[in-house]
Amino acid sequence: RELLDRPVVGIAMTPSGFNNCHRYMPDLVEAVSRGVLAAGAMPMPFPTVSLGEVFLNPTSMMYRNLMAMDTEEMISAQPMDSVVLIGGCDKTVPAQLMGAASANVPAIQVVTGPMSTGRHKGQRLGACTDCRAFWAKYRAGTVDEQEIKQVEGRLSVTAGTCAVMGTASTMACLAEALGMSLPGTAAIPAVHSDRLVAAEETGKAAVRLIGSKISPRDIITHKSVENALRVLLALSGSTNALVHLTAIAGRLGIRIPLSRFNELSDETPVLVDLKPVGEGYMEDFHAAGGMGALLRELKPLLHLDVIDVEGRTLGDRLSEPLDWVDRAIIRKFDDPVSPVGGLVALQGNLAPDGAVFKRAAATPGLFESEGRAVVFEGLDDLARRIDDPALDVHASDFLVLQNAGPHAAGMPEAGYLPIPKKLAQAGVKDMVRISDARMSGTAYGTVVLHTAPEAALDGPLAQCLFDFGQGA
Ligand code: FES
Repeated sequence: RELLDRPVVGIAMTPSGFNNCHRYMPDLVEAVSRGVLAAGAMPMPFPTVSLGEVFLNPTSMMYRNLMAMDTEEMISAQPMDSVVLIGGCDKTVPAQLMGAASANVPAIQVVTGPMSTGRHKGQRLGACTDCRAFWAKYRAGTVDEQEIKQVEGRLSVTAGTCAVMGTASTMACLAEALGMSLPGTAAIPAVHSDRLVAAEETGKAAVRLIGSKISPRDIITHKSVENALRVLLALSGSTNALVHLTAIAGRLGIRIPLSRFNELSDETPVLVDLKPVGEGYMEDFHAAGGMGALLRELKPLLHLDVIDVEGRTLGDRLSEPLDWVDRAIIRKFDDPVSPVGGLVALQGNLAPDGAVFKRAAATPGLFESEGRAVVFEGLDDLARRIDDPALDVHASDFLVLQNAGPHAAGMPEAGYLPIPKKLAQAGVKDMVRISDARMSGTAYGTVVLHTAPEAALDGPLAQCLFDFGQGA
């Protein structure tokens, strides 16, 4: 009875045998519960849909909104005074933030955290940028069957989300940038003891939220979404984050046009040197100073009057000095990895409604080029012909994939078309690729994505077939 008289903190938990990124979820739920109890409230964990990127077919994107609706309805229908959202793998954090934004019960996000790196012949390995590099070598014939199996066994050596600045890591950082997570928690490795401390502290903060009554709508505003976009650009984060941030903001009626995104991109340098754009891993980002260090570098560009889950303004939070920053990983504003943002929106005859391009992960030599279009009508056609020795394709051609957009195929991460095997074997590492699909945040290359309108809605991408002829 004594416990029942206390305020209730719901804990939206997402464990699943099919979600290896959430393997330590039980430990986190326990730690959050400890924090809630210590702060004098009653923890009430409840399950929702869990989306593990690896096992969902045809694509996890088909289920993000289902998880968002599940989260929203369970928060709204059950008696809770505030809620802790524990997510991690790509779609889970945006789904939880979307649901929380609509339910508008005081909410706080904590993530499962990134994996630590493995080792292979003295080289660090992290899912899944390094798997892509090794897979490309395997296709090119420079890595054999035995070695690729060894690499496979050494890629995911701990619990946690992908070890690089992929979609999960990007969304964790954006949740913190929005103000929905406790400062400094986005990048803590999954198996680090600080991850449990962060979960406990999140539980306590959820109890304080009941008193302050700060809700997601107070935190997720036009200004905080712009701040999150700045962070995305400075991280050179996942292109998927644009789809997710649009959906989170959309739940609150916040719209930011691509033209504004490009203004932000022109002004915001890439400051973080992590894979897939650079060299480091998420564990390095955490050790280097994490989001706190990055936000301090970006301070002149940020809206400082936004508040976070603690009710503090960003300006107040960033006024505290940091003791140390590893400048090999988090650069100073005037010594950037790139002077402009990692992502940019494109517009043109193939994409009148826009397309997305991760320029920081692309080959500058291909930015202005001419080539034939080698067109694939869809995913089956791609699978059937990409490695056909008879395919008429040259390194200077553009690979075009149609009918992989939201309406046609649920928008799978198929935009990172493989280099045709015969070209890979000849040493070709990058080509211009254009599609209406998405791409994994861990991937890289000269890849134009999200081309809109999509081919299945008669976007100009569909015309490639007729203008250039199938195959070439
Ligand atoms: Fe879950 Fe990469 S597969 S974060």
